[in-house]
Amino acid sequence: MSVMLVTGGAGFIGSNFIRSWIAETGQAIVNLDKLTYAGNLENLQGLRNDPRHNFVKGDIADRELVGKLLSRYQPDAIVHFAAESHVDRSILGPEDFITTNIIGTFRMLEATRAYWESLATDKKGKFRFLHVSTDEVYGSLEAEDEPFTESTPYAPNSPYAASKAASDHLVRSYYSTYGLPTITTNCSNNYGPYQFPEKLIPLVIVNAIKGKSLPIYGDGLNVRDWLYVADHCSAIRTVLARGRVGETYNIGGDSEKNNLEVVHTVCAVLDELHPDSPVIPHAKLIKFVKDRSGHDRRYAIDASKVKRDLGWVPQQSFADGIRETVKWYLDHLDWVAQVQSGEYRKWIDINYGGRQLI
Ligand code: NAD
Ligand code: DAU
Repeated sequence: MSVMLVTGGAGFIGSNFIRSWIAETGQAIVNLDKLTYAGNLENLQGLRNDPRHNFVKGDIADRELVGKLLSRYQPDAIVHFAAESHVDRSILGPEDFITTNIIGTFRMLEATRAYWESLATDKKGKFRFLHVSTDEVYGSLEAEDEPFTESTPYAPNSPYAASKAASDHLVRSYYSTYGLPTITTNCSNNYGPYQFPEKLIPLVIVNAIKGKSLPIYGDGLNVRDWLYVADHCSAIRTVLARGRVGETYNIGGDSEKNNLEVVHTVCAVLDELHPDSPVIPHAKLIKFVKDRSGHDRRYAIDASKVKRDLGWVPQQSFADGIRETVKWYLDHLDWVAQVQSGEYRKWIDINYGGRQLI
């Protein structure tokens, strides 16, 4: 029976991926996650007693542990999600990003190389190391620029983006130097169920429900391309099944929006679905606050390669995806309360306390 090792599977995208992988394929997963503030086993509650989900609490930078897991479970593929993922945290404290995203990925690659080299020829040929990366490695676009393609030069602007760029380069080098069968995906902004409410969309939903202000950095006209998380998961399954080793694939939703449009859309859906909020209309809660340092102006993805070569297309429109997402948060207020722990409240004070209104 096929087994896959997933890293960071207790986080937002990883947990959505594991659920959909087991539902679609019935195959078993070993989930290695350190359970940082962003990792939460409640995200996988439905799999608690499912023998196809084997959870291991541990660090990707623990080379010995990763080596032992690979020898024991003999996976056919690794999908590497584990990372520090929030840009604002990387600005206030970059060190964890270097340790996990760069050194952690390096140790994963080293352990994987030793394992892969020990495999029999047939299994060796089928093995894949899929590295989940971001469009932020390409830097910032102006309004008139063409979207990022796989050959856009890297120009990361935040410590987060720089650490992901470094990990992408390491992955590339393990293919070129050692022939390790790696593939990298560079995806745009995800949204959907189980996203930790430090990122824009879930933060706005959980604040609005409580009548708290909705902080918009700068003029609110920074543009992101938004992709529903289930579509990202289907893209990863497609790339695993049909992607060419040594290649990179851009994944995006063809859904560019500026932050004000995103927040107004969330507010309008909440006005309809949650008319009992303390403040209606919810858009009255919008507040412009001091900008993020080095704030990238625009990201846009040209995903024509994965569409043309592998036949992947996103299924969910932004309007429907946002509606589903708002509904999910309204139906899971217990999950929201659980993740808004002491650590979360500390982060909100650190990031927003010193951000005067503009
Ligand atoms: P997340 O922050 O929600 O989850 C990260 C997970 O990794 C958590 O479960 C955490 O406990 C785990 N983790 C962190 N450090 C670890 C370590 N040293 N060892 C083991 N586990 C560790 O992140 P996410 O939003 O789900 O993103 C997952 C991946 O996708 C990241 O690599 C990110 O760069 C990439 N990505 C995210 C987006 C997005 O919009 N969220 C878009 C493109 C790419
Ligand atoms: O592009 C892919 C990336 O998308 C991923 O690699 C990252 O892991 C993920 O966090 C995300 O990065 P962003 O910085 O784009 O996401 P975030 O939700 O933090 O911010 C989205 C936009 O909203 C950005 O322009 C900053 C703005 N923003 C964010 C927050 C948290 C605000 O205006 N106010 C806020 O309070």
